[in-house]
Amino acid sequence: MTLLNTYIGTSNHGFAQYAQDELRKLFPTTKFTLLVPTEVFIFHVPDETVDVIPTLMENEPIFLRHLQPVHQEWELTRTDGDLANLTEWMRNAYREGLFSLGDKIATQIRKEERADVPYAPFEIKAAIDEILVSECQAEPVVRYADHIISVYISAKKLFVGISKPQENLSDWSGGAIRFMKEEDQISRAKFKLLEAEQRFGIDFSIARKAIDIGAAPGGWTSLLLERGLKVTAIDPAALNPRLLGNPLLTFLKKNAGDVKLRDNEFDLLVCDMSWDPRQMGRLVADLLYGLQSGGTAIITVKLMHKKPFQTVRDILRIFEDSLFLLKAKQLFHNREELTLYLQKI
Ligand SMILES: C[S@@+](CC[C@H](N)C(=O)[O-])C[C@H]1O[C@@H](n2cnc3c(N)ncnc32)[C@H](O)[C@@H]1O
Repeated sequence: MTLLNTYIGTSNHGFAQYAQDELRKLFPTTKFTLLVPTEVFIFHVPDETVDVIPTLMENEPIFLRHLQPVHQEWELTRTDGDLANLTEWMRNAYREGLFSLGDKIATQIRKEERADVPYAPFEIKAAIDEILVSECQAEPVVRYADHIISVYISAKKLFVGISKPQENLSDWSGGAIRFMKEEDQISRAKFKLLEAEQRFGIDFSIARKAIDIGAAPGGWTSLLLERGLKVTAIDPAALNPRLLGNPLLTFLKKNAGDVKLRDNEFDLLVCDMSWDPRQMGRLVADLLYGLQSGGTAIITVKLMHKKPFQTVRDILRIFEDSLFLLKAKQLFHNREELTLYLQKI
């Protein structure tokens, strides 16, 4: 059966209902079926709906981390017949022009824990890659693909679809972006800023001078120093001593409410205070005179009381005279929080 307008959506664990709320706003009669509770779900937008993907790319939901199309699904047989179904579907996809000779194709396979199948994901990938190379002269790749073939194995079914990487909202399988952990990495929090840099397409190295509010132990500060920025780090807690001798760093070991900045001193402001969002918002708002017009702000917002949309609205109201929202996104490395990407007015 060929399916139209059927997708698998993935959010961070615990946030699927918010992703579904956002989808329902865009496409009111969408139908949902959960695959992994609070995290992965199928959604079906009425067949006659046009421009589903452009609409989603333009109005990207905060809590939808990843999207993959379902072009065909089968009941699992738990035999080699499953692989034969997939490879046959691929041959058809090639014949129908869903991808072309010489294309770079990434195959991403996700398997639920409770999917009890006798073949491993790498065997599926090997079978698909063999056909790609021998029959379609396509090039199997991991990153920078022209198309992604997405296979999902649930407890009962096998789903497959093909799409351009940007249509999936993330070119990482399930949106689970991974970074290499450095041996001497100061904090895991660094991954959040690395992910924001990628996801929002920011080039930190073109900024000159950053302020990091709530900087300790210093993961974000270390990344900005690596990108060549001068950084003013503010935190009453200690920064990792390895950072302290860096000539690009100024450390103010203070509460952010007690610091004085120069007007328009910074072109980048980052804040990862992990604090009550409204108090954090007011504290940051009081320091925004230090950020020049056009400057960038990256701010994590803790979702303490699980009313995420209200929390975002409240924060944006606090910032409304000074900051313009470019994007709000719950990143893979955000836990009970989301990340705002803003620009100084
Ligand atoms: C989650 S940690 C930041 C981690 C940091 N981004 C990193 O990469 O290592 C939150 C920090 O915010 C700091 N903080 C909380 N309230 C603050 C305030 N009013 N002023 C300055 N720093 C504050 C805490 O001391 C804590 O070190």
